[in-house]
Amino acid sequence: MLKPEIEDGEASLASPAFRADVLNGFLARPRAIPARWFYDRRGSELFEKITDLPEYYPTRVEASILRDNGAAIAARIGAGHAVVEFGSGSSAKTPLLLRAIAPAAYVPIDISGDFLRESSAALSADFPGLPVLPIEADFMRPIALPAAVADLPKLGFFPGSTIGNMIPSSAVDLLRAMRLWLDTGSLLLIGMDRLKGEDILVPAYDDAQGVTAAFNLNLLERINRELDGTIPVSAFRHRAIWNDMRARIEMHLEATEDVSFTIEGRPFSIAAGETIHTENSHKYGDRDARILLRAGGWTPIGEWTDADDRFALILAEAQAPRTAP
Ligand code: AVI
Repeated sequence: MLKPEIEDGEASLASPAFRADVLNGFLARPRAIPARWFYDRRGSELFEKITDLPEYYPTRVEASILRDNGAAIAARIGAGHAVVEFGSGSSAKTPLLLRAIAPAAYVPIDISGDFLRESSAALSADFPGLPVLPIEADFMRPIALPAAVADLPKLGFFPGSTIGNMIPSSAVDLLRAMRLWLDTGSLLLIGMDRLKGEDILVPAYDDAQGVTAAFNLNLLERINRELDGTIPVSAFRHRAIWNDMRARIEMHLEATEDVSFTIEGRPFSIAAGETIHTENSHKYGDRDARILLRAGGWTPIGEWTDADDRFALILAEAQAPRTAP
């Protein structure tokens, strides 16, 4: 693993973690910046636009699975859960779930505070009487749930195949952490995007209107805005590449010419054709998905897909600790 060369905590208006990830990401080979930094205000808005694109099927298909199978899903889950949503964003799919399962509380967790507050307020208005207890946090770090839900059974909700943005070892770590936060006896309803042809996958991440390109390039604009960068954004282009060996779409920013720039006064150069790797989006065969969940401490107990098997919603229960097969 690359040893961080820039430590957190030097004086800056930007998040120290963002600063460290960007500076280390430009020093690393291959260059890479974690995808979580896409989601500033502008990035979150662009992501919402992506979810409406004709080429980007996951959001639409997942919502249709929830709509078509609400009663069956509710029957497996039961009523009275505290629904803990990881990376709630605009919570667009949440009403479909909440309406189906009659929960006792809703705990949305998101890194983007503005979005979280707006969507929590909208949800409270739609579900009067349902306690909505937002947590502004990065769920890749330890989470403490509100005391008010301590005695309720928990249902983790992790839609959108966000798990796919993690490499398998990190995905397993996160699933294990969720199991600890939610506790034994909990359930997890998770969305996982299925393996499918490049002809569908590449356009889903490189749409004709250029919204995904703008989403990817906004990372460079964010660096310029928040870290006093001088990156010539127009000298980069968006790339979406299918990596078959790793079963994932990769997003990169490729320099179209030799560029030199500074970030907080530090000089960097990138040659034409070199890229900054900005995102992975893993896709799963049905057994791959179940193995990943089991490795993360969750036993699948139900699975719902669309007619074309493009996307799956999987219900899993927290495994009791065991020492033998
Ligand atoms: C949030 N995540 C699941 C999206 C995905 O499909 O991997 C992010 C995204 N990146 C480009 N388009 C959508």
